[in-house]
Amino acid sequence: MKGSFITFEGGEGSGKSTQIDRLARRLRLSGIDLATYREPGGTPGAEEIRALLVQGEPGRWTPKTEALLMSASRADLITRCILPQLENNGWVLCDRFSDSTIAYQGFGHGLGYELVEQLNAFTVGSLLPDLTFIFQLNPEIGLERTALREGKEDRYERFDIEFHRNVERGYAEILKRNPTRCVAVDALHDIDTMADFIFAEVERRFGIFQESGGGNQETGELS
Ligand code: TMP
Repeated sequence: MKGSFITFEGGEGSGKSTQIDRLARRLRLSGIDLATYREPGGTPGAEEIRALLVQGEPGRWTPKTEALLMSASRADLITRCILPQLENNGWVLCDRFSDSTIAYQGFGHGLGYELVEQLNAFTVGSLLPDLTFIFQLNPEIGLERTALREGKEDRYERFDIEFHRNVERGYAEILKRNPTRCVAVDALHDIDTMADFIFAEVERRFGIFQESGGGNQETGELS
């Protein structure tokens, strides 16, 4: 037996992180042993690789180097965190995974679906998410949202709009090719509506057992 592996994907500013926090809270209230990670990053070494990727000038890496750095970060996270957690029957929620490399490096940078798929196969082996939520948002709106954020991690936001439109096309293609694993989330909905949609899908797929009985799943308060 092994735990469930759920990934969250989408372009810039689509609200994935908020939804991961919401889902994690609800699942923990259901008594599920859960770990959350982000990519690139998640281990000390992978966080060092992350800094190389998300900071600095957009043109600092060639697309191929970028794809390999993403994969190096992923390989470290899989070996040290994701596989041990799943083998221990724990659940994993991951903010981005191999679909991001298809969308960003495969489509955004034009390396192509098939080439990145080969690289992903080498990196992840047989590990596939059980379920992937793909947040859909017009990239113009997403970039407007991220422009309000502060910090140094803006390398991808500085690629031109055509890059981000291609990323969006990439995600559409991933959805088309993986209609069972992937579920689209309309990121224009408000936070609560999205959280309910996501939790309902997870419940439907994995049949979560409510250990705490009745009450409000979100707050843990008795109704
Ligand atoms: P984040 O903003 O969601 O934390 O992700 C960091 C950036 O890394 C984001 O702009 C997308 C990019 N990225 C890729 O280009 N390829 C990948 O494989 C991953 C995991 C992220």
